[in-house]
Amino acid sequence: MALYSEKVMDHFRNPRNVGVIEDANGVGEVGNLKCGDIMKMYLKIENDVIEDVKFETFGCGSAIASSSMATELIKGQPVKKARELTNKAVAEALDGLPDYKMHCSVLAEEAIEAALDDYDKRQK
Ligand code: FES
Repeated sequence: MALYSEKVMDHFRNPRNVGVIEDANGVGEVGNLKCGDIMKMYLKIENDVIEDVKFETFGCGSAIASSSMATELIKGQPVKKARELTNKAVAEALDGLPDYKMHCSVLAEEAIEAALDDYDKRQK
């Protein structure tokens, strides 16, 4: 069996929603201390809905595929739904990640959480 699913390879080779949102109203950056990989997530939220999301990931293929899939999963969704996104759901949507690569999907969950926290802070 191949180490990575076709979906992982697809999102790694053709990542969706890569880039920066200049007028984002929620930005989150997280890093993995062990491998040094970094993920930055930009959200444009309007009326409590994720209107747009983009990411920059300086990291391994699994982290890039995870961020790409995570953006697809939350785009157009209510903020509440995006808050509930888990790394497990991201990995499942990718048809699985090898056990020792699961931490890469955690980065996506945490980056979205950090961006949503930033959004909340800006609302106050
Ligand atoms: Fe660092 Fe995948 S090895 S996020």
